[in-house]
Amino acid sequence: MRKIVIAGNWKMYKTQAEALEFLQGFKSELDNTPDDREIVLCVPFTDLDSLSKTLHGSRIQIGAQNVHWETEGAYTGEIAAPMLTEVGVRYVVVGHSERRQYFGETDETVNLRLKAAQKAGLIPILCVGETKQQRDAGDIESHIFSQLAKGLVDVDQTNLVIAYEPIWAIGTGDTCAPAEANRVIGLIRSKLSNPNVPIQYGGSVKPDNVDEVMAQPEIDGALVGGASLEAKSFARIVNFQ
Ligand code: 13P
Repeated sequence: MRKIVIAGNWKMYKTQAEALEFLQGFKSELDNTPDDREIVLCVPFTDLDSLSKTLHGSRIQIGAQNVHWETEGAYTGEIAAPMLTEVGVRYVVVGHSERRQYFGETDETVNLRLKAAQKAGLIPILCVGETKQQRDAGDIESHIFSQLAKGLVDVDQTNLVIAYEPIWAIGTGDTCAPAEANRVIGLIRSKLSNPNVPIQYGGSVKPDNVDEVMAQPEIDGALVGGASLEAKSFARIVNFQ
């Protein structure tokens, strides 16, 4: 059985006060949420500790949005895995397209970060996906297969989540057609040594399309940006039918 993982990626949004306010509204919407799904909030570094304390004993797991491959060192602006686990972080997003595009993340550094996360006991969420140009040129498969081949060298596939996030669908309202996301995710699965790795879809997932996305047989969850910032909206996504 593949695990269902619904994760919010807050990106660079929400102060601690805003995060705690979100939780007040969000937690009360989870009373009837089926047990079959894992709920994760991937939040800015400054929110990790307070959310983790507030959520202690709840079913909501905390995730970070980046992790360095060394356990400590002179790496200004980075964060080490033991710093995350110390405050109760369980998941970490690795290789998001925004990190690749704006901060020079490569498949090689993604690979180092994945291994460091796993070594510390974190579950990494590896993001892969193509640009609009790559899609139009018919290069989806070759691009994603290359991201997987380089990113997953020596990575433990029993302790991993993958997110298929077509870059053109992120933050645009232009969701990938669920059947097409299902097709690409099936292709991703065909390249894995462990077919039970949960594979999420990400890119303009909203309350009004989540049921159709989650009805696809290959799709095991969602990685949600904008629609995870508002409590009722993210609760509706977590409570997909
Ligand atoms: P949106 O849901 O805002 O399109 O963002 C998706 C994403 O990048 C999640 O990591």
